[in-house]
Amino acid sequence: MREPALREIDVKTFRRMLTALIEVYIAAMNPPRSQLPGRQAIMQRHANHPGFRAFVVERRRALGSTVVGFIYGFHGSAGQWWHDVVTSELYARNGRDYAEHWLGDSYEVAELHVHPDYQGMGLGRRLLDTLCEGRPESTVVLSTLDRRPETPAHRLYRSVGFADLLSSFEFPGGGPPYAVMGAPLPLVRVPLTESSKPQ
Ligand SMILES: CC(C)(COP(=O)(O)OP(=O)(O)OC[C@H]1O[C@@H](n2cnc3c(N)ncnc32)[C@H](O)[C@@H]1OP(=O)(O)O)[C@@H](O)C(=O)NCCC(=O)NCCS
Repeated sequence: MREPALREIDVKTFRRMLTALIEVYIAAMNPPRSQLPGRQAIMQRHANHPGFRAFVVERRRALGSTVVGFIYGFHGSAGQWWHDVVTSELYARNGRDYAEHWLGDSYEVAELHVHPDYQGMGLGRRLLDTLCEGRPESTVVLSTLDRRPETPAHRLYRSVGFADLLSSFEFPGGGPPYAVMGAPLPLVRVPLTESSKPQ
């Protein structure tokens, strides 16, 4: 099988490819189907944010190519739902300087998914490194499911310097607990300890 190839896609292509991206999201996350129209609308909106960039990995076939992984992110700004929720929570728990340090000049990784058939091949790490490379912001932030044992995603993020800013955090509107994570930019590989979570 030929190596999946990584490429950047522009906003127009991102919108055109949304169905294929959602298919990868479904395969990777197995979300309740009722959430999918909302997820699609959120992704459409995200594409309007400043600093939006998206990358896909594709398996080339004789008759075109199939997306097997993707990532996108954008500059975090006041007025964005996730940014405002996390800023006010960090402010309430740790004060203004802490919230400002992590969210004041941040790049937000909104989605990163690799199809299960292609996981464990280094594609997730390549996508994350590529998206974050050369970013002018001082930090990169994201949220990921907070589960024990630790998820592959949480471990990947820790391996490039992300730490938990919030653990077991429930976003307004319900849903499972999340870890909100942040890392200084540029990303650097760090040796992993068993867990970054408080015992
Ligand atoms: C998280 C995800 C994107 C990682 O992509 P991937 O291509 O499988 O990961 P890689 O092969 O690049 O591995 C990168 C690192 O992730 C971690 N990792 C990957 N698979 C792992 C596993 N099965 N168990 C534990 N850690 C794992 C490791 O730290 C690994 O680094 P290492 O190979 O140096 O040990 C992918 O597993 C995925 O799509 N998961 C489901 C969806 C999801 O959770 N997305 C993130 C939402 S925030």
